[in-house]
Amino acid sequence: MTPRPIIIDTDPGQDDAVAILLALASPEELEVRAITTVAGNVPLALTTVNALKMVELAGRTEVPVYAGCDGPLHGALITAEYVHGRSGLDGATLPEPVTAVAAGHAVDAIVEIVTSAPPGTITLCPLGPLTNVATALDREPRMAAMLREIVLMGGGFFEGGNTTPTAEFNIYVDPEAADVVFRCGAPITVLPLDVTHRALILPRHLERFAALGTRVGEAVHGLLTFYERYDVAKYGMAGGPLHDPCVIAYLLKPELFRGKLVGVEIETESPLTRGMTVVDWWGMTSGPRNATWIREVDAEGFFDLLVGRLAAIG
Ligand code: RIB
Ligand code: CA
Repeated sequence: MTPRPIIIDTDPGQDDAVAILLALASPEELEVRAITTVAGNVPLALTTVNALKMVELAGRTEVPVYAGCDGPLHGALITAEYVHGRSGLDGATLPEPVTAVAAGHAVDAIVEIVTSAPPGTITLCPLGPLTNVATALDREPRMAAMLREIVLMGGGFFEGGNTTPTAEFNIYVDPEAADVVFRCGAPITVLPLDVTHRALILPRHLERFAALGTRVGEAVHGLLTFYERYDVAKYGMAGGPLHDPCVIAYLLKPELFRGKLVGVEIETESPLTRGMTVVDWWGMTSGPRNATWIREVDAEGFFDLLVGRLAAIG
């Protein structure tokens, strides 16, 4: 089977880091053409260092890491150190990377990789604010029609928001960018809070990571033990939601997930609901059905996949 070519656009963050490891641990199914970093959970300089740390931890330093946009299209950057810690990867002690960041801007890399491949080849996997992706779509309007799919983590509807009552972090940081992406016409699949809040990191999952007995298992155990404390305290959940790895798991085993094609629009004007993903789940409007909105996951199957793949690296 020919591996599916993907670009991971990311703001590591512990959950992004695990998503990157899952993708790099699956070379039979996924060919990671590039990792592109964006400001989000922590500033760009840190998200870029953190992505480099992950390619080194996975032993996959041939995968280029390009630095991208350092803030949203409009307004000031909002970060999430309160969740991820100052470094963005608090919880694990990882060496400073010796691998150099790739030359060139992430937006140019995205445009080049997508438009130099046959139409329908590249899948974009945004795991953070959509600033890089929107900028690339604006820079090269042909890109939307050339993409195979955009599979992103972001938004929330039935679960509400995690940054405001109605907005999820990735969308809230750059609502205008999200609006560009959801209007672009490329096939979109969304892994929102509605599904990621069902992929909770439970103690037995953390024990399985630690039991791998590898540097990757040790690092993931430390990262997720630190990361989950915030959501457990905030939501009173049994564990922290493992957001971004759901994107990669969906690519690897879509049968673990369920959703449907719906209309999704982004609120960019209202001070009260700015950054909201407005989902027409019941088909109340005649607008375009522009995204497959995922609501359900086989959580144990998801963690079995994740632990099984991570066992193969590091
Ligand atoms: O709201 C969760 C999302 O915001 C995840 O992608 C997390 O890494 C942060 O970027
Ligand atoms: Ca992220």
